[in-house]
Amino acid sequence: MSDRGGRRLLIRDLAQVATPAGTAAPLRGDALNDVDWIDDAYVLVAGGTIAAVGAMRDLGPIDGDVVEIDGRGRCAVPGLVDCHTHACFAGDRVEEFALRASGATYEELHAAGGGIMATVRATRDASEPELEAAVRRHRAWMRAHGTTTFEAKSGYGLDRDTELASLRAVRAAGGVPTWLGAHAVPPEFDGDGDAYLEFALGEVLPDAARLAVAADVFLERGAFDAAQARRYLEACGAAGLALRLHGDQFTEGGAVPLALELRARSVDHLEATGADGIATLAASDVVGVLLPLSALSLGRPMPPARALVDAGAAVALATDFNPGSAFAESLPLACGLACTQLKLSPAEALAACTVNAAFVLGLAQRKGRLALGYDADVVLLDAPDWRYLAYHLGGDVVSDAIVAGAAED
Ligand code: NIG
Ligand code: FE
Repeated sequence: MSDRGGRRLLIRDLAQVATPAGTAAPLRGDALNDVDWIDDAYVLVAGGTIAAVGAMRDLGPIDGDVVEIDGRGRCAVPGLVDCHTHACFAGDRVEEFALRASGATYEELHAAGGGIMATVRATRDASEPELEAAVRRHRAWMRAHGTTTFEAKSGYGLDRDTELASLRAVRAAGGVPTWLGAHAVPPEFDGDGDAYLEFALGEVLPDAARLAVAADVFLERGAFDAAQARRYLEACGAAGLALRLHGDQFTEGGAVPLALELRARSVDHLEATGADGIATLAASDVVGVLLPLSALSLGRPMPPARALVDAGAAVALATDFNPGSAFAESLPLACGLACTQLKLSPAEALAACTVNAAFVLGLAQRKGRLALGYDADVVLLDAPDWRYLAYHLGGDVVSDAIVAGAAED
């Protein structure tokens, strides 16, 4: 449902309302565990923002028109923020999924011209309206799992027209667009990553910088090395884009020190990050984005999330939704894995996919908390306790997602 036109909504008689506490972002250390919750509570929305949150016993009379929602048996948490998806793609990789099930590895499929390049072929064949329809379809899947704000990357075009069409499609569907212009070297460049970057930075970046909010690079064996990632990110930063990196997914390739040096917003994946990388990231303002659905789907080691949090790192949690390494759009499932596999607490998981994810997208002033003045993005859980968000593993835990003022179609 959507709070169009500034009407008032009262969500009443909720079993609980829970939100990351305070006003700071990103949260780290003990603050990551600090959840404010109220039993037998209400949320009042006016003009698309949160007007009040409190206990039912403190709810006074409300003058004028107000639409009431019965919250009995349900909990309210902030709308979930998915800060890392690849939701703009055509086709699927179900054949590769079956091959991986019988032993082929993700890296082997990529090296053989499948993997990301298979999706590039399908995405290049799609029209812009088809790409927009695909993003809207994927957005609906995410929304059903409580995601009210999503980032989506390009990176399956790798030519000028398809990259720009992808960024426009993400924008049109209400997503936060990231230019993943350095995802892979397309076949027409015959493995020459430097020549491809020359093209991408010269021919695509000037327009991509007007459409995207951030730039991202896949720094990995078989994709781009640290020198190429530096060249790409420096140019993107100079064009005004926030910087992000896919780093340490399979091998430690220098993504963490590069992110610090270039003052990137985030390094995402980190499954292969060792002790030095953990300490370096923890002492920085760069957010570590944990993607346990991707590690699970590929049968890879999980990222060292507990060590990162214990060392003081700011972490976020995202799905990595894409057709290859994580065909999975559920942030509640990612929260479940965060608690069962990454050994985060339910409170840490909640903060990681709300306020800290909003910070990665530059939206922490407006999104990620249920508090006065924040956007009224509210998820209602079909649960007597907000921790069911992570506890009900793979369950149908989201009963409604309310989005402040945003068009739904
Ligand atoms: O984050 N690792 C690089 N990119 C994506 C996967 C993209 C794909 O397989 O299509 C990721 O896992
Ligand atoms: Fe990714």
